Amino acid sequence: MTKLGVCYYPEHWPEETWKRDAARMKELGLHWVRIGEFAWGRLEPTPHTFDFDWLDRAIDTLGDAGLNVVLGTPTPTPPKWLVDRYDDVLQVDKQGHVRGFGSRRHYCFNSPSYRTETERIVTALAERYGQHEAVGAWQTDNEYGCHDTVRCYCDNCRNAFRVWLQERYGSVDALNEAWWNVFWSMEYRDFDEVELPNLTVTEPNPSHSLDFYRFSSDSVVDYNRVHTRILREYSPGRLVVHNSMFFFGDYDHFKLTEDLDVITWDSYPLGMLEQSPLPADVKAHYLRVGHPDLISFNHDVYYGLKQKPFWVMEQQPGQVNWADSNPLPEPGAVRLWSHQAFAHGADVVGYFRWRAAVGAQELMHAGLNKHDGSPDHATREAAEVAREKPDALPASSADVALLLDYENLWATSLQPHAQGWNYWSLLVSYYQAARRLGLNVAITHPRRDLSGYKLVMAPALHLVDDALAKHLQDYVEQGGTLVVGPRSGFKTLSNVAHAPAPGPLTELMGVSIEHVDGLRPGITEQIRYAQTRYPYTTWADLLTPTTAETLATYETRAYRGTAAVTRNQVGDGTCLTVGMWTDSDTLGTLLRAELEALSLTLTDLPDGVRSASRGEVRYYLNFNPHDATVEGVTVPAYGVVIDRN
Ligand code: GAL
Repeated sequence: MTKLGVCYYPEHWPEETWKRDAARMKELGLHWVRIGEFAWGRLEPTPHTFDFDWLDRAIDTLGDAGLNVVLGTPTPTPPKWLVDRYDDVLQVDKQGHVRGFGSRRHYCFNSPSYRTETERIVTALAERYGQHEAVGAWQTDNEYGCHDTVRCYCDNCRNAFRVWLQERYGSVDALNEAWWNVFWSMEYRDFDEVELPNLTVTEPNPSHSLDFYRFSSDSVVDYNRVHTRILREYSPGRLVVHNSMFFFGDYDHFKLTEDLDVITWDSYPLGMLEQSPLPADVKAHYLRVGHPDLISFNHDVYYGLKQKPFWVMEQQPGQVNWADSNPLPEPGAVRLWSHQAFAHGADVVGYFRWRAAVGAQELMHAGLNKHDGSPDHATREAAEVAREKPDALPASSADVALLLDYENLWATSLQPHAQGWNYWSLLVSYYQAARRLGLNVAITHPRRDLSGYKLVMAPALHLVDDALAKHLQDYVEQGGTLVVGPRSGFKTLSNVAHAPAPGPLTELMGVSIEHVDGLRPGITEQIRYAQTRYPYTTWADLLTPTTAETLATYETRAYRGTAAVTRNQVGDGTCLTVGMWTDSDTLGTLLRAELEALSLTLTDLPDGVRSASRGEVRYYLNFNPHDATVEGVTVPAYGVVIDRN
């Protein structure tokens, strides 16, 4: 079932307003109300003295109005007394500074005291509300890692990292070898000698850093389990969810999601656009509505983590406060974003927040209602969505997949080698090329079963071992089409080079890679493909075909004639290697030939117009200020058409 929801902070408002708020939420067509995730200070004003009365009344008020509560565990904001009580709760940043109290997310995931305190508050809440009939779901914490908080550099993290390394490598010799510590005399004699990869004179060993990133990610997953274990014990049958963020990869979302019933994310299309590296003219065009592919890419990431419907826990309802500049959304944008979320596999869209805060850090952030409690624009748009949305939608499916691996994000960002290298942007260019052809794109992990997809895109398959190579080889041999992008097959899982590249992918790709080119922003070179020149920037792998045929060559004077794009026939399938970083138009041209050979139906969608299907229900979404007609359907400016067939 599709539902709408809202984030609500009863503790911010006089109690006499709660009943009316709840009645209005219900009238608006909302179902879920998320509360409580920052309320520790009011729930336990002094150590071990709980005040649950107000929360009892708030939950009852919402429940009596026929609403369902998502109750947040309040751990993103440990109160002052807690922080003062223990000397190991506060995080330490990369520069070695203790991060202070006075905002949020100031705790360390590996603090033993904080784990104990977390168990205590989560147990208290779960005992009290675990069986409450109005509580249908729990949200663990809030946005793990927001404000750059996944990686902490405190003594507890250092000690826990040493234990983690010991478990991974068994002996310190194995670690020295895996990290290639012979370089610069970095060999250790004991795990206790290993420090965290900060405060070094120049960059630390990237193998050391990659393992620290893995460890930090595992620490988040582990910390989340403290919540899920207790919630499942006291509140069986309720959903346990967490809310993540756009283009956020500091922890491995595949791993976190395994321990959740539903993954959710917080969609702020205008803030996302402001922070994106898109060109200024593109940003200007989408100023008040956001870029459709950036938004839907994230929807598809969150669908892909479980290959199941996700929720948008926080949907931007108006202006945000946290981007460098914060434009007002176009009228209709909130409606468009809400429908787009459903189109890409959301089951729930919740708006952030019910009423704009009159004080503190987020007072410039809009809500469904204004500071004074009267309805803002988004209230009307949310009501429209409530009326228009289908009650239920089929699952999403796709013939084309895009592979996402957080470890490849970490490894390539640790050694970018070209200013402007950005793993997310590379993935988005492949994604965009396929979306522009009217295709659904499933985002999934490289090691998952790929046999259901006709074509799989692997933009930067950087860390590869024999098992992964075999898995991909099997997929291709059995008839799959694999498109491999730049920087693939370069490193072992320990982040050291395969010699020669592309290591275990050599047979599949049918090339060897002798050299790579890393280009600074502003430099554009060209390839020649089918008698036409196409641009590339940022990165080039120089391919030497062994069994592959050459489809495109570099025009660049320094290595003119070297293969840039190759195709290798393997068993019943094909492996296409795209050696250079190029734009989504060029990728679309390269992909089109493969997709047509697979008999997929392609539609050329204009910029800003997108389609997405959930089963037989097809959505058309227009992010332009003018009407557009596609596949015989006219989509109004900033509007949506839902074709239910
Ligand atoms: C999210 C966060 C919310 C609120 C919101 C503002 O990142 O979860 O608590 O800060 O952003 O846009």
